[in-house]
Amino acid sequence: MTIESTGYQSGFGNEFATEALPGTLPEGRNSPQRVAHGLYAEQVSGTAFTAPRHQNRRSWFYRIRPAAMHGPFARYEGRAAATFHNDFDTGPVSPDQMRWSPLPMPGDEASVDFLDSLFTMAGNGCAASQSGIGVHMYAANRDMQGRWFYDADGELLIVPQQGRLHIETELGVLDVEPQEIALIPRGIRFAVKLPDGAARGYVCENFGAHLRLPDLGPIGSNGLANPRDFEAPNAAYEDVEGDFELVAKFQGHLWRASIGHSPIDVVAWHGNHAPVKYDLRRFNTIGSISFDHPDPSIFLVLTSPSDTPGVGNMDFVIFPPRWLVAQDTFRPPWFHRNIASEFMGLVHGAYDAKAEGFSPGGASLHNCMTGHGPDAATFEKASNADLSKPDVIRDTMAFMFEARFVIRPTQQAIDAAHRQRDYQACWAGLQKHFDGGR
Ligand SMILES: [Fe+2]
Repeated sequence: MTIESTGYQSGFGNEFATEALPGTLPEGRNSPQRVAHGLYAEQVSGTAFTAPRHQNRRSWFYRIRPAAMHGPFARYEGRAAATFHNDFDTGPVSPDQMRWSPLPMPGDEASVDFLDSLFTMAGNGCAASQSGIGVHMYAANRDMQGRWFYDADGELLIVPQQGRLHIETELGVLDVEPQEIALIPRGIRFAVKLPDGAARGYVCENFGAHLRLPDLGPIGSNGLANPRDFEAPNAAYEDVEGDFELVAKFQGHLWRASIGHSPIDVVAWHGNHAPVKYDLRRFNTIGSISFDHPDPSIFLVLTSPSDTPGVGNMDFVIFPPRWLVAQDTFRPPWFHRNIASEFMGLVHGAYDAKAEGFSPGGASLHNCMTGHGPDAATFEKASNADLSKPDVIRDTMAFMFEARFVIRPTQQAIDAAHRQRDYQACWAGLQKHFDGGR
């Protein structure tokens, strides 16, 4: 069983209103006792009731059965119980630069769906205090059939790298492909189907304040990610009964309950606590047009603010195709150390700061004040480039989950066979050019 997409509504954080059956949405009243077509009314709140109006997120569902109808939860014992968690908050953490090759796809003998394939790479903070992030990867080859998942710990920013995802949510269907992202709000139930048979990608689980578009300051009212390029699904539902499973992530652990019907039964909804998709290729890059390149904050797509002004709990940054036109400037990302910590991935093509070793589906981690930057080959190439001429980077889509707190790799990520234990060697070839002042 698969629900087809019924289209999208444009905007981010908008007060949407959509109905799969005409005449379902109530007029004039938010939550009538008697909903059209015999449906139940149910509200889901993503922020405190009293959050400021411009930050307030909630949606009203008009659905066949309320979310309360399922069996008791017991600890989930499937594959993801051991690999998808928040166990990154204790013990010493190495300041090493780290890099991983792509998460291996399940072998022919293994059949793994999106949920069970989730592999926690790193994270910080904790769900209990609603601060921090979990960083996960998935590599799946089977549809989620007869089961749905929701994450009470945070919203999920899904970054596909290989294979399309058909995501059936309570609010409707998101079809996303590599170079697009999906954002599933905290608590929303969904199932992931794989139209291409296999899929791999990255997931940032944001325990903090919900992701939003950044303010633009002197850039003005246009540029970076434009609100109208975000798309929320139109209502779509199924009326199906059976012996199904509901899996929840709650306080760092997975739980399962029996459910006798599909929870994708919302016939109409209105509100702004809604999943969205966004095509990263629509990002309008802003950069230097004289000399020197600005900080990577110019590539900020979405930010989860913390309680400190200007400091994100998590920032989602991309490095898309763009023109490099600054004159007399070393153009690749410069050597640097930051107070922020950086988890990077590559969706498509090549990343301009690394000659090799960082391939699509791979990942790197550079933590607070750990030095990093272009590898030796990239430094030599960029240093010898003709800097009087513009250059264009065409085939690339890299991204960064940047966090305020140190991003602690999990033990399974440190132990993983696909971790590149010789990563530091990429800087070993940097030559000493110092001439002693002669
Ligand atoms: Fe960096």
